[in-house]
Amino acid sequence: PAMLGGPRQGARVKKPSSRVHGPEWVQALARVDGHGFWLSENALTGYFPDIHARFEPRPDDIFLVSFPKSGTTWLKALAFATQNRAAHPPSDAGHPLRWRNPHDCMRFLGASGADGGMEDEPPPPPPLRSPRVLATHLPYSLMPERIRGEGSRIVYIGREPKDVLVSGWLFTKKTSAMFGLDVQYTLQEAFDLFCEGRCINGPHWQHALEYWEESSRRPGKVLFLRYEEMLREPASTVRKLAEFMWCAFSEEEGGGVVDAIVELCSLGKLKSMEVNRNGSNHLAVRNEAYFRRGVIGDWSDHLTPEMAEKLDRIVDVALRGSGLDL
Ligand code: A3P
Repeated sequence: PAMLGGPRQGARVKKPSSRVHGPEWVQALARVDGHGFWLSENALTGYFPDIHARFEPRPDDIFLVSFPKSGTTWLKALAFATQNRAAHPPSDAGHPLRWRNPHDCMRFLGASGADGGMEDEPPPPPPLRSPRVLATHLPYSLMPERIRGEGSRIVYIGREPKDVLVSGWLFTKKTSAMFGLDVQYTLQEAFDLFCEGRCINGPHWQHALEYWEESSRRPGKVLFLRYEEMLREPASTVRKLAEFMWCAFSEEEGGGVVDAIVELCSLGKLKSMEVNRNGSNHLAVRNEAYFRRGVIGDWSDHLTPEMAEKLDRIVDVALRGSGLDL
């Protein structure tokens, strides 16, 4: 999940001494005919047609959608803890989020698999009760029509593009090192590609815009959250999420449960858990890579004012008149 790059299928993982030029590592990209989004070549021949041909949505499915590095891990943790709070109270010492990475708590729509693009590698996620909660990074217009239809609900998490870029660049460098690669990938290179929209599921702002427009058209079906607002108001986000997922908090539950969920899913808490300090997922990505600083405006430690201005301009122009301000 949330890979910004990776070895092509069947590619040999190179020895630590191998030097790889960053853009080659992250950019085995291609576009779906007639669409402006970039997917990895693997996706285009693998899970993408697979999902379209075989994935069977249920009318009450809930999709958690994000552009990679926008807070996917957090949203998954919050949704999982909220939906399963009766079976797993957040204060339980044995809560699944205390021994499983949030990505391993639900299925991911976006890998080749026997059941239509659903990644279901070990460890198996908990049984999928209805409504199922599934995650994906796919742009709205590339989702199968069956999902875009009236049934499925979608929760989107959007994040400020400069922070997404920086988070993604650092993540790519870190995870490629985990694959034993010495990747030469400058921020300038990542920046140029990002500005051109050339990153997996990019352009970033177009990805957000599609979900934004859909949330305006069908507010009961598409909930648009922002990472920054969630950081400011985590408790009200959890309440909103619960309502949208049809498991609103009752009077009797009170605010204590909400606060406990916020606490359990906080960056500091998740980061400190053994599974997230020392565990890895089935893609051999160490879980610790998913938890970094989690702040607003971290980009300013990395991007020059000129870079920031250029990207802001591109995004402003693309979103003009939409009502969306990322
Ligand atoms: P930074 O790299 O800016 O710190 P994703 O989950 O989509 O891969 O996004 C990763 C970003 O979300 C990282 O941002 C990471 O630190 C942050 N993050 C991960 N878990 C979080 C949590 N529980 N609360 C807030 N932010 C979190």
